Amino acid sequence: MVTYQDEWKLAHEDPHGFWAQQARSLHWDKAWTRSYDAQRGPLGAWFADGEMNTCFNALDRHVADGRADQRALIYDSPLAGKHRSYTYRELRDQVARVAGMLRANGVEQGDRVVIYMPMVPEAVMAMLACARIGAVHSVVFGGFAAAELAKRIDDAKPTLIISASCGLEPGKIIAYKPLLNKALELAHWPVTRCIIVQRVELEASLHPVRDRSWDQELLAAEAAPCVPVLASAPLYILYTSGTTGLPKGVVRDHGGHAVALEYSMRAVYDAAPGDVFWAASDVGWVVGHSYIVYGPLIRGCTSILYEGKPVGTPDAGAFWRVVHEHQVNILFTAPTAIRAIKKVDPQGRLLAEYPRSSLRSLFLAGERSDPDTVAWAQTHLGIPVIDHWWQTELGWPAAATPLGLGGFTPKVGSAGRPMPGFQFKALADDGAELPAGEVGNLVLQQPLPPGTLTTLWNNEAGLQASYLQQHPGYYLSGDAGVIDDEGYVWFLSRTDDVINVAGHRLSTGSIEEIVSGHPAVAECAVFGVADALKGQVPLALVVLKDGAEIATPELEKDLVARTRADLGAVACLRQVGVVKRLPKTRSGKVLRKTLRQLADGEQPPAPATIDDPAILDELEIVLSQLGYVRSDVEREAG
Ligand code: COA
Ligand code: AMP
Repeated sequence: MVTYQDEWKLAHEDPHGFWAQQARSLHWDKAWTRSYDAQRGPLGAWFADGEMNTCFNALDRHVADGRADQRALIYDSPLAGKHRSYTYRELRDQVARVAGMLRANGVEQGDRVVIYMPMVPEAVMAMLACARIGAVHSVVFGGFAAAELAKRIDDAKPTLIISASCGLEPGKIIAYKPLLNKALELAHWPVTRCIIVQRVELEASLHPVRDRSWDQELLAAEAAPCVPVLASAPLYILYTSGTTGLPKGVVRDHGGHAVALEYSMRAVYDAAPGDVFWAASDVGWVVGHSYIVYGPLIRGCTSILYEGKPVGTPDAGAFWRVVHEHQVNILFTAPTAIRAIKKVDPQGRLLAEYPRSSLRSLFLAGERSDPDTVAWAQTHLGIPVIDHWWQTELGWPAAATPLGLGGFTPKVGSAGRPMPGFQFKALADDGAELPAGEVGNLVLQQPLPPGTLTTLWNNEAGLQASYLQQHPGYYLSGDAGVIDDEGYVWFLSRTDDVINVAGHRLSTGSIEEIVSGHPAVAECAVFGVADALKGQVPLALVVLKDGAEIATPELEKDLVARTRADLGAVACLRQVGVVKRLPKTRSGKVLRKTLRQLADGEQPPAPATIDDPAILDELEIVLSQLGYVRSDVEREAG
């Protein structure tokens, strides 16, 4: 077996040759002349003038190569009480017709299609159908509310939107259509065609001119073939949270993306064609894009699409039931899901009900894997539990313990070592490279490997400002951390205003925009505080306008309702505190990091950076009343 060290060295010393070699696993309609072109765009381009089709590589290629009758996709929905599987042939045929339906509704190569869907097979089909005809999909997570959807519509300017009548959450039906209608009202971009999947749980009323029913359109549709697409052409835009309330549209290409995902399925996850791969995430997040849809299918695996929760659908044995019933080989989820299971079933009694001999490994990402969670999973599952790190921008894991490369012993608390193609450095704010063991800004040396972002949609200035300008020659990850003397990377926290709530990436800036829109609020600070289940939850501190007369409970109720309505329930804003003033630097910047440290009971910040150090005592009182800030005794004890 190739060792990790050899492979990393190869990718480092000869990236062009290394990735050209990996690209041979795929079908190309036209070979590229140079595997990497540094002159194309700010990040260069992989396989730029090659031509291929991602959908062909994910479906048609396997049908032709003898996998036609193998299951490609298993839809398992405890919420809808449904199971359904699709062979590669069935999925290919369905996707070809969906592609024909898109064409018949005016979608051309390069056009954008927004997909606002729950976890139903039609969401996967819609994504692959776009890829088939060279249209660019932009999936919006179903938990986002109308205003967030509207922002994405205005930026992506879609020719068409695909949505569903409803989503299902435990004990409730989420009517998507009114959210879509509201988003279309809020958006400036005119959308002239929406295709709606009508679910039996709740039928939506359709606009007579603009809206069409998925089922009816599909009946009339003819299958569309795969079109060869330039490898450097955009496959999708996926919006992610940044520092401001405006999401950033991460653009992924066809060629580099397919090459990287196929490689990662082999090298990181050790997934062979025919294996059953389950990423318990949502198609609205990057994990869903890479490892529910594209990665497993490009590799010829069976992928699971699970519409349910780790607990409560119906119990904390749900994951083990799915593993057992579908003979899952590799499971990938967020640590928060394991924490939720562990909380309800600490002894792992429900595990005993479902034999899991098929399960070889558990991968965790989306937030730091705390040692207790890793230990619990390792003890109860008896398989390797691998923390690995990546981001929407990067598309596949940049740090991991790669099981397909012989691996190495993971260190609990670290997300492993850099994957072939990635080189991390820890830099001081002034750009100086820090020695092993010192906390710094984690950056990646350019060129980035295939599969990483190519740009931000219509926003190259934003790409420069967010990722490239601070440390020329490097990509700024936005995470602070340490690289130890054996090359393991330890991710500690974000350095910007992004928080991670139950594995969902959110911007405190967008919550602040909503909170500060309240008529009684003069200014506010929203920051993430530690939460035993969700990793982090947002907390809002507000300063009221002079003369504003509103009781704190009423204000809290208003602000929670506003955040749910404008951003979505996933934001999980539950608590609001009223303060007389906020801590600021002498230049007037609110010190959110100081607030977080104070609330989490960390060492209080050096008062020199704060305009008025006395403010900390006041804040400590309010935060204690909200249940934060441990006492000195507690702090010393633990
Ligand atoms: N559509 C509409 N609403 C949604 C939604 C969706 N797709 N997803 C979540 N919500 C709503 C929930 O119904 C809930 O609403 P409520 O406040 O009215 O109850 C709210 O958003 C928060 O949901 P959630 O984050 O799921 O919290 P929870 O307390 O219901 O469940 C966990 C906690 C840990 C079980 C859950 O967060 C979880 O499974 N997390 C894993 C997430 C994950 O896999 N992330 C992907 C990264 S790999
Ligand atoms: P997202 O773009 O939603 O995938 O979120 C990416 C961010 O999540 C990273 O920048 C990290 O802050 C955090 N993250 C993801 N995986 C890990 C991990 N394994 N350990 C620590 N943080 C992680």
